[in-house]
Amino acid sequence: EKGMSTEELAYNLAIGEGELLGYLYSKGVRFHGLRTLDRDIVKMVCEKYNVEVLDVDPMKVEEMAKKKEIFDEDDLDKLKERPPVITIMGHVDHGKTTLLDYIRKSKVAASEAGGITQGIGAYKVQVPFDGKSLPCIFLDTPGHEAFGAMRARGARVTDIAVIVVAADDGIRPQTNEAIAHAKAAGVPIVIAINKIDKDGASPDRVMQELSSIGLMPEEWGGDIPMVKISALRGENIDDLLETIMLVAELQELKANPDRTAKGTVIEAGLDKSKGPVATFIVQNGTLRTGDIVVCGEAVGKVRALFDDRGIRVDEAGPSIPVQVIGLNNVPLAGDEFEVVSSLDIAREKAEARAEALREEHIAAKAGEGKITLSSLA
Ligand code: GTP
Ligand code: MG
Repeated sequence: EKGMSTEELAYNLAIGEGELLGYLYSKGVRFHGLRTLDRDIVKMVCEKYNVEVLDVDPMKVEEMAKKKEIFDEDDLDKLKERPPVITIMGHVDHGKTTLLDYIRKSKVAASEAGGITQGIGAYKVQVPFDGKSLPCIFLDTPGHEAFGAMRARGARVTDIAVIVVAADDGIRPQTNEAIAHAKAAGVPIVIAINKIDKDGASPDRVMQELSSIGLMPEEWGGDIPMVKISALRGENIDDLLETIMLVAELQELKANPDRTAKGTVIEAGLDKSKGPVATFIVQNGTLRTGDIVVCGEAVGKVRALFDDRGIRVDEAGPSIPVQVIGLNNVPLAGDEFEVVSSLDIAREKAEARAEALREEHIAAKAGEGKITLSSLA
């Protein structure tokens, strides 16, 4: 069934998901499980916000999500190595979470509602490479078609896209979409051909299909690394990790840890006891407790930081995902954040951002920059 998640609709309308849910509730819309909206409801909401629904244009999400330059000139002589951020993408049920579970030696897939990933999970993992143990950040994304915006965001903050393709199923719509996101973001692609343990698995057919859409396997003289794995049995995962590390090494990833932090919000929501909670990926600088941040229209003083295992930390450096408490509002996933020197400045910036959004909405109304709801067919 076609539909769009409330998360993605809120993202596209540049409003808080809480606001959207409140509006839907007032209109009598109720959810059981996945918060997916059909076309009529999306249209109703768009009418309220004076945004026109256009036909499918998956590239529009990318345009919104174009990678921005994060370094200042001052940073250039202070750059240090940083861990790679690797996003796992691919069609629903092709084994993304199982792969990440194996890499992390944990069991997220088994505990997910209906086995479907709903948010971007961000995890730090130590990977053995070149006689060392190196930190890597992995992001898990949902394959469900309603989550295009999340995959676009995943591609934006990422250094390497690992695209999982099930060997018994081949290229499917969200495989293509993931490839498009990675290409639009200019991110190198590594293919993990998964489920090679299954009856009917045909890795060769998958390689054939991929080469026919321009992704030629290294094995066949092309430039796309492809590793045949079984995430369930843990087969060839070492090879996959080594391939990822080799690609990462070539990128010479760097940032300046000795400055105030900047980065991107990858998830945000309202927690009953903690209030607004946002997961940030720091892309430059170091974020610390007590820092004053502005992200999107939200501002606040960082009251507490939690790492990917829920453990309280004092700071988070480049590439590190961290949960932030202390914002006055729930920012939008995809918003950029930065540390500023005072709450006044933070409020000014948030106000300027709100103003810019209002102008975008007016432009959308005037028929200039129309918003495309990419998951609606
Ligand atoms: P979404 O998050 O919903 O997009 O799915 P996903 O890509 O994260 O898939 P998930 O890891 O939840 O796996 C889907 C199903 O495939 C589960 O039943 C897994 O046990 C199974 N699976 C994953 N990898 C393998 C594999 O290598 N071999 C076999 N036989 N089954 C696998
Ligand atoms: Mg999953």
